[in-house]
Amino acid sequence: MNFAVLASGHGSNLQAIIDAKKRGKIKGELKLVISDKADALALVRARKAGVKTVLFVDPKNFPSREDFDDELVAILRKEKIGLVVLAGFMRILSPVFIKAFRHKIINVHPALLPAFKGAHAVKDALAYGVKVTGVTVHFVDEQVDHGAIIAQAPVEIKPKDTLASLSKRIHKVEHTLYPKVVDLFLHGKLKVVGRIVKGK
Ligand code: GRF
Repeated sequence: MNFAVLASGHGSNLQAIIDAKKRGKIKGELKLVISDKADALALVRARKAGVKTVLFVDPKNFPSREDFDDELVAILRKEKIGLVVLAGFMRILSPVFIKAFRHKIINVHPALLPAFKGAHAVKDALAYGVKVTGVTVHFVDEQVDHGAIIAQAPVEIKPKDTLASLSKRIHKVEHTLYPKVVDLFLHGKLKVVGRIVKGK
């Protein structure tokens, strides 16, 4: 099965997926990396790995949000993409896109959902004073950080943790968990029944 990664930034999760593929741990074909940021390190990483890249910019350049998403869907369909992997993609996908790839879009979130949704999950967990946070991989639906949960892993918060030190440990867990979920999906091992994902 072909898959695509959508990334806006650093792309360390993309790199983990590229590395896992190189080690034969992911069987599918990474056909495309799409970014909405011209200076995303993710694009550099993709090019270095010989993966086709598409720079997909501002929805403002399209007549409507639907046109933007239609174009994005068309690009993915052209490459026969069966799985869309969001890896730090900072744009909320519209219902048009979600509908086109229902149960075929996954995301990694740096907290144990449904706790600490949103763009500042690590900071929010630290500020709240929880002792354990973690990583969630989930299907993407119409609501932010809401879709059915596929896998989670805990990360303990230490008394001296800073945003940097905790983020680093969370990233490390993401880099192990996310490629595993990608591979499970590509092997058809994930079954969704309502909010429940059965797999492995
Ligand atoms: C990760 O922490 C992920 O949980 C969140 O965005 C971050 C992306 O990091 N959704 P990177 O670009 O993969 O390094």
